[in-house]
Amino acid sequence: MNVDPLRRRLPAQAARWLVTGCAGFIGSHLVEALLRLDQTVVGLDNFVTGYPRNLDEIRDSVTPAQWQKFLFIEGDICRPDDCRAACREIDYVLHEAALGSVPRSLADPRTTNAANVDGFLNMLVAARDAGVKRFVYAASSSTYGDHPALPKVEENIGRPLSPYAVTKLVNELYADVFGRCYGLVSIGLRYFNVFGPRQDPEGAYAAVIPRWTRAMLLGEDVLINGDGETSRDFCFVANAVQANLLAATTENPEAPGQIYNVALDERTSLNALFGILRDALLEHRPGHRVAKPVHRDFRAGDVRHSQADISKAARLLGYAPTHRLADGIRVSMPWYLSRFSPAASADDLAETPS
Ligand SMILES: NC(=O)c1ccc[n+]([C@@H]2O[C@H](COP(=O)([O-])OP(=O)(O)OC[C@H]3O[C@@H](n4cnc5c(N)ncnc54)[C@H](O)[C@@H]3O)[C@@H](O)[C@H]2O)c1
Repeated sequence: MNVDPLRRRLPAQAARWLVTGCAGFIGSHLVEALLRLDQTVVGLDNFVTGYPRNLDEIRDSVTPAQWQKFLFIEGDICRPDDCRAACREIDYVLHEAALGSVPRSLADPRTTNAANVDGFLNMLVAARDAGVKRFVYAASSSTYGDHPALPKVEENIGRPLSPYAVTKLVNELYADVFGRCYGLVSIGLRYFNVFGPRQDPEGAYAAVIPRWTRAMLLGEDVLINGDGETSRDFCFVANAVQANLLAATTENPEAPGQIYNVALDERTSLNALFGILRDALLEHRPGHRVAKPVHRDFRAGDVRHSQADISKAARLLGYAPTHRLADGIRVSMPWYLSRFSPAASADDLAETPS
């Protein structure tokens, strides 16, 4: 990712950042971007869904001097002491650690609640006590629940459709109360289907883009839940990184204490996504055989359509997505190829985002 446009937003003096969930997908990109911007970064993760190899990829993509400015703490946000240690002398918190996935939360709501609600509260308390300047956290489009309006506008939410969605709504409520009761300045970013390199393609709870790309590469069936006309606003991870850095550093007095959609304001059906992924793959592997997708039942807890109105983030934060869906997939494909295709060439890898 090109971080230069973000550089002018950052304080002249290197600040100290805490990224929770730093070994996960979005967290690892935040750490990488901050190190490239010569910031000092503390990372906290317990590797429950993140991987040491994601930290290795960051190390390999920054200079040794930048890597020196990263301190990793293996710890759990469910333990208040770990949160306290991680928040020590921190200016900005980017809180990503949580258990994602609607199906996981339906299968085991208590474990999701422990990380996403108890852990979140521990982080708020630690950030408040450490006197951080700002607490930016990963909220979720799942908070729109059964509200029918499209595109989704921040003020209009429905009833949550899953335990995961409840936890993300509770995050917003707690952050708001900590602002009003204790003066903790926070910003919540409602991500809509973020994708990109390092998003875990494995396991029952993998997100659709890495799961399908892996299946296509390995010659396995691509399974579409329902008729394929379910739609999402897929957001490349560089856009989410931009939103985080803007949220942490904006000097607009109207911006803090608010929630923002982070996406593109574009809707893509699963059937269309299948075609975009197949075409991107075939650009790298002409002649690779991709089987027709297999449709199965709709999945419980899924909303039918999702699309974000991003005008609030544009207006108050200056958010301007740099990558449309197809751009992001093109940038991500070499990473999938290097992960799953033994025939990955040096040319493919040379295109991996920096
Ligand atoms: N990826 C998306 O499309 C999306 C959409 C909406 C919201 N979000 C939210 O964004 C955040 C990051 O998601 P992601 O896609 O990078 O997921 P991820 O699973 O790749 O990253 C989460 C990281 O948090 C860590 N973690 C989880 N529980 C922890 C705990 N108790 N203590 C310490 N570390 C813990 C995991 O090990 C992992 O490294 C999450 O809060 C998620 O709910 C993501």
